[in-house]
Formats: sequence, C-alpha cells, structure tokens
Amino acid sequence: MPESPSAYQEAFRPQFHFSPPKAWMNDPNGMVYHQGIYHLFYQYYPDDIIWGPMHWGHAVSKDLLHWKHRPIALEPDEKGYIFSGCAVVDVNNTSSLGSKENPPLVSIFTYHDEQRKQAEEKSFQSQALAFSLDQGKSWSKFEGNPVLLDENLIDFRDPKVFWHIEIEKWIMIIACGDHVRIYHSPNLIEWEYISSFGQGQGCHEGVWECPDLFELSLGESGRSKWVMLVSLVKGGPNGGSVTQYFIGEFDGFSFKNEGVEQEIKWLDFGTDNYAGVTWYNAPTEKGEKVFIGWMSNWDYAASTPTENWRGAMTLPRTLFLLDLDEGIYLGMKPFSSILNLRDKEIQLERTIKKNSVIEWIASIGHSPLLALLVKAWDKDFLKLELKFTSEGGKCLYVQLDPIKGELLLDRGKLENEGLGDKFTPLLKAPLLKGSQKEGLHIFLDTSSIEIFSCGGAINISAQIFPKENFYKIEVRGEGSGFEEVDISLFELKSIWK
Ligand code: FRU
Repeated sequence: MPESPSAYQEAFRPQFHFSPPKAWMNDPNGMVYHQGIYHLFYQYYPDDIIWGPMHWGHAVSKDLLHWKHRPIALEPDEKGYIFSGCAVVDVNNTSSLGSKENPPLVSIFTYHDEQRKQAEEKSFQSQALAFSLDQGKSWSKFEGNPVLLDENLIDFRDPKVFWHIEIEKWIMIIACGDHVRIYHSPNLIEWEYISSFGQGQGCHEGVWECPDLFELSLGESGRSKWVMLVSLVKGGPNGGSVTQYFIGEFDGFSFKNEGVEQEIKWLDFGTDNYAGVTWYNAPTEKGEKVFIGWMSNWDYAASTPTENWRGAMTLPRTLFLLDLDEGIYLGMKPFSSILNLRDKEIQLERTIKKNSVIEWIASIGHSPLLALLVKAWDKDFLKLELKFTSEGGKCLYVQLDPIKGELLLDRGKLENEGLGDKFTPLLKAPLLKGSQKEGLHIFLDTSSIEIFSCGGAINISAQIFPKENFYKIEVRGEGSGFEEVDISLFELKSIWK
C-alpha cells in the first residue's frame, strides 16, 4: 500500500490527532519516554485498511502532538503476530540485554499464534521481549522468546510492566479473559505468578484487554491510590468497546478494589476511546500520568469511511485523581501542549433573548479545528445547548442538562451511512452533581469530538464523519444563571503543516 501523495489532506484525516501514514492502526503500544522523546508504538497492519497480521508501527514526538513516523519496529514472525504490549527503560540493565552505560529499552509484547488459534489449540498467546540499544531506533527480538506462557489460558495478552520501587521488582499486569494477573520479575525474563483480580468485579460483558496499573497521589492530602484500567471489547454504557477503571490499594502483590464490587467506573462515556494506557517514565507533575487511547471501537472500526488509512489516537491526556462528593474519580484533561496549537481566537456574538435565554453565535469560517471552552460557572441554570452546523444543514449537538443530570452528544444528524447498526448516534453520560459547574472543554477535529466535563471526571470521545466542515456554531443557555457564563473559542493549527 503506497503512502498517498496527499497524505494528511484526505477526507476525514485528523489534523491534530495522531494517525498512521497509511493503512490500519488500532491500540497504542509501548509508550515510553526516554531522553526527551515520547515514543508511541501502535498495532499496525501496513498492507490494508482492515486488521491483519499485527506489527508495531512507531512514531516519536517531543510534545505528544507533533509526530515523526519511524520505520516499523516489530514485524510478525514464525512465533506469531505482534499484539499489544508496553516498553520500559531498564536503567539498571536487570535484563542484561544492554549494559549499565547503555541501558536497553525493552518492549514486552504478546505473540499471537494465529495458526494455533485456527487449530483450536488452547495456548496461542504468549509474552515476549524485544530490545533496543540505540534509543528506540532499531529493535531486536530476544532469543529466548517467549518469556511467559500459560498452557491453560485462551486469552493471555497485553502485558503492561513497571518497576515497583518498594519491592524492587518488575511488575506485570496482563489480561486473561475475565480477570487480570499480576506477575513479578527481577529481570524482565523470568516471571512468577503472584495474584489475580477481576472475577465478580466491574463489567464483564466483553473480554478484558489492555490493563494498566499505576499510583496517583490525591491532591495535597498526602494520600495516594492505585488505579487499574481495564478495557473490555464490548459492554460500554453507549455500546461497544470501552475502558473501565478501579481505584484501590496495591502493595506490590495484590490489588484491592476500594469501590463497590459491581459499581462500574467508565473512563470515557464516548464510544471512541479504547485500549488506552499510560506512558512509562513520562515527566509529570506529582499525581499525574500521561495517557492515550485508540479513537475507535471494535463494533465499527472496520467500516469507518476513510480511504488510505484507518484509525487515530485520542488527544494525549493527563490523568489525575479527583476527590468529589460522589467519591474518588479518575479525571482526564488534554495534555498541556494543546495550548500551543491555539491559532486565532474567534469572537462569539452574544444576545440576551427573552425568558432568560442567552445565545452566542460564531461563524467559524469552515475551520474544522476548534477548541471551545465554556468556563466554570457559579449559578444553576436549566440547559446548555451547542450546535455545529454545516453548509448543507447537517448538525452536531451537545447538550448539558443539569435537571436531567445528563451530558449528551448527538452525532445522528450527520451522515453515518456504512457504519452499521452498532454505531450509536446518541451518546449519553451522567453528570456528577457536585462538579457539573466545572465547565466544558470541547475539541473538534475533522473526524472527532472530545468533550471533557465535571472537571474531567465525565467525558465523551467520539468519531464523527461530517461530509462538509461546520461553518457556524451556536450556543444557547436557558436559565438566569447564564449571565455569567464565559465562553471562548479558538481555531487550532494543524500538526501536519
Ligand atoms: C485490543 C486488542 C488487544 C490485542 C490487539 C490486537 O484492541 O484486541 O487485546 O492485543 O487489540 O490487535
């Protein structure tokens, strides 16, 4: 498949989200920060725009927004396809794959043996290593692969590994169908089973995939919690693939969920934020982690109307804990470098109508790239509606309804043909009472919208496929509390120009 000469200008090509140069992409993999560079690997099939034998594609960035493509890092071989996994910097050369002076970057991934799967053999997924001694430019597979097998597991994939400071061991969390398992290793090569988590916990409508486990401090309280992310193929609140999270304690051996067992916490209520995990080693403020997800859904990923490539990542996001009236939540906000993409500010014209209705209108000059901020407000109001309209009269709606306690995105008025029955046009999320006045942040790219609300605790990320760009945005507020609401709108720059 040749890279198209007009790559990055094709219809629906995201302009400030990562997408591959050509062909099919799904999960983000191997995210590691090393010597000032963020590495992003991804599930990649370079020969078609549908899923196939998986490779690891590779890109690098200094700000998580502007990316340079690198050659494919890992190709499938006789042991299998290269499924999802992670990468770490082995600073102490525990693996002996590098040296103390030149510590190796080590990726830990799943080999998926499609032939064994077709032959209905049980263990067709195993864990393996590859390493780089030139800061991620080239990768060699470890000769002793695989490093971890389990004869009894059908689903055994997507390892995420980190160094645990207190117990001085590598910890692996890995998805095993309806639970995750924790393993220990002194050297990334020999792994010992320690514990499991998951049966009877959270949502089990789909197979569990792509887990992550990390500690976050809770504001200035001096306390901290462990967060476990688990993606599941189906069962999302608005249908299809979705990511849930658990908050609890982890002593290096076992994870204890502090929430109610059956209560489900969704990372994102949108249908297009899947298989996301965090960067290893990224420099962050205390209490933060950097995250990216695949902006699609297994329900319709293969039918999205793009031509030379398929798949994009969400905006990179900062994760943090929020101590709210309703309990402890995981919050998300766009990674701060997005501010550097602000181009010109667009003025909104504000009119006060009768019956405490305020309207703002802006002509957005066909710019498909927008950041709209409705800043935090103090007073109660009845409803906030936003409408993006295209020349042909097609609309995208966002509504925040404090009375119903609901945030809603309606992408059903856009052309959605070809996406199939499982594409949910109307996406809903419950607002949290105590933090619903925290404002709304909305990011619109050529084929996606990302909405952050309730201080980042309740979010909707969704793909959209408008045939024409929007030319007008209208905001309508009902209720006297609106007088004070402050809105700003920015055009954003493309990352590919
Ligand atoms: C998640 C997933 C992973 C697997 C990979 C295969 O989207 O199904 O569990 O490793 O994609 O491409």
